[in-house]
Amino acid sequence: MYDEPVAMNVAATQASSAAEIVLAYHARTKHSLTRYAAGPETLDWDTQPNPFREFAGCARTELELGAERLTTSFAEACTPGSVGPFALTIEAVGKLLELSMGLSAWKEYGPDRWALRCNPSSGNLHPTEAYVLSRNVPGIVDGLHHYQSRDHVLELRCRSSSSPDAPARLWIGLSSVQWREAWKYGERAFRYCQLDVGHALGAFRYAAGALGWRATLVEDVTSAELAALMGLDRTDAFSGVEREDAELLIAIEAAPSTVAAAERNIPGAGESDGNPWTGRANLLDPRPLYRWPVIGQVSDATQGRGTGTSSDFPNYPSLHRTSESCAVDVILGRRSAQRFDSKFTMSADIFYRMLDGLLDRPNAPWDVWNFSPRVHPIFFVHRVEGLEPGVYALPRHPAAAHALHAQLRRDFEWETPAGTPAHLPLVRLLRTDCRIIARTMNCHQAIASDSCFALSMLCEFEPIVRANAWRYRQLHWEAGLLGHALYLEAEAEGLRGTGIGCYFDDALHEILGISGTQFQALYHFTVGRALTDDRILTLPAYPGRRMQPPRETSA
Ligand SMILES: Cc1cc2nc3c(=O)[nH]c(=O)nc-3n(C[C@H](O)[C@H](O)[C@H](O)COP(=O)(O)O)c2cc1C
Repeated sequence: MYDEPVAMNVAATQASSAAEIVLAYHARTKHSLTRYAAGPETLDWDTQPNPFREFAGCARTELELGAERLTTSFAEACTPGSVGPFALTIEAVGKLLELSMGLSAWKEYGPDRWALRCNPSSGNLHPTEAYVLSRNVPGIVDGLHHYQSRDHVLELRCRSSSSPDAPARLWIGLSSVQWREAWKYGERAFRYCQLDVGHALGAFRYAAGALGWRATLVEDVTSAELAALMGLDRTDAFSGVEREDAELLIAIEAAPSTVAAAERNIPGAGESDGNPWTGRANLLDPRPLYRWPVIGQVSDATQGRGTGTSSDFPNYPSLHRTSESCAVDVILGRRSAQRFDSKFTMSADIFYRMLDGLLDRPNAPWDVWNFSPRVHPIFFVHRVEGLEPGVYALPRHPAAAHALHAQLRRDFEWETPAGTPAHLPLVRLLRTDCRIIARTMNCHQAIASDSCFALSMLCEFEPIVRANAWRYRQLHWEAGLLGHALYLEAEAEGLRGTGIGCYFDDALHEILGISGTQFQALYHFTVGRALTDDRILTLPAYPGRRMQPPRETSA
């Protein structure tokens, strides 16, 4: 009878020490105006880790390319049920992967050549790997496959045995190779890996939408179960090479009625079925120069899972999109701006539409999970028609508006700007030219001041992390999702965005009046009209393989 309270105390102590590790990691990996977080002192670009993980000794299935033939509009891709679903087949899975983790171009400048992908990544280092778990999908062997984006192929890691009568189903597992980021960014790398995972989750949601499918986070699976499911705990496959950290599992739903069944019934892959594992992961960096042990510590402390608390979306009016952009053009065309036109002014309509896309609605990307919004953007508006330059807030949850009011500077205005659509919770905090502040706060990057607006994603922080340290990962995923929505919304409007991971955490908090850790900025972003560098050559993603029109519509 006394066992339970003792067990609960042990669990509570473990939870609190995990939270302490996370909070300490977060504090020590802040950049400040006087000191950058610990990272390598020198970088040899010629020895950067191989950006492509692959497994030697696996059966490979070449996937078809052909996403360019899809006619779904961006608005339809964001709205569940607006187009009939494609059948779940190997051809459609090829398009899903092409539009999420696939390459979108090769770039060449002088002797340098690098790949770009549909999902963005801090430093273009791409720590996120994708695994495909399939059951009865025509053309794909049942079991676990690794997606290798350079060649657009599946590598079969382990077959699974399933009943031929079970419906066709698909899950995507995501993992991070932390060394890819740590190689360049040192201790702060864990944060960037998590933001990249959020972008990848968003990339799958939008790609699924282009096929008339849904994508949802599977909540009832722990990090350890996920590692086993993706074969990441297999020492034989990873001995002597960089390990991968299990992140999350996405259920892809071609037919929405199977959602609940899918979450309960993830097919196993592995020796328990009597099927052997195949493949050995490649070595990505033969000469690692540094070690960053805190990354392993924060990774261990944030193992776990979380369950969403809210399935009721607030009753916002439906999104009104005027852009006729094709989803595939938006997804394949997405790029990070490296420079902005500092004279360009964005229309108020576009600004408000972009903000509308950030509200928690049953639309892409927010319908990927049931978690209440915890990320609240603070905008630094430079040039938006009819809006005074200054600092604005968009609390994405009514309770957050009260909490922010209590935390931010007392002399902020909290006024709704004239012309704001009635349902949009936008408030002006301060009228000021904030270009210099934005640039300085973002590690002196001009993309934060030459854009039309920059933003800081303030997250509800310490209480959330103390309640469940795993949420440290998930808060970053939400910030990454918000960034992904901004990337694609901007692209659909003929504009461009850039994620900003390099900013001075506490200097920014101080400007906003934040002293404690109830809120913390986890990611920044910037949007405007991009200037492109014509000296950089753009080459096809898969030379000789891209299929040509005619375009395809769904059922
Ligand atoms: C989490 C994250 C942080 C980033 N931080 C910065 C940044 O601080 N400065 C910058 O110029 N670009 C930043 N980027 C943009 C990346 O450099 C860009 O995504 C990458 O080079 C790939 O290019 P693409 O987005 O055009 O595909 C960031 C991207 C992500 C996803």
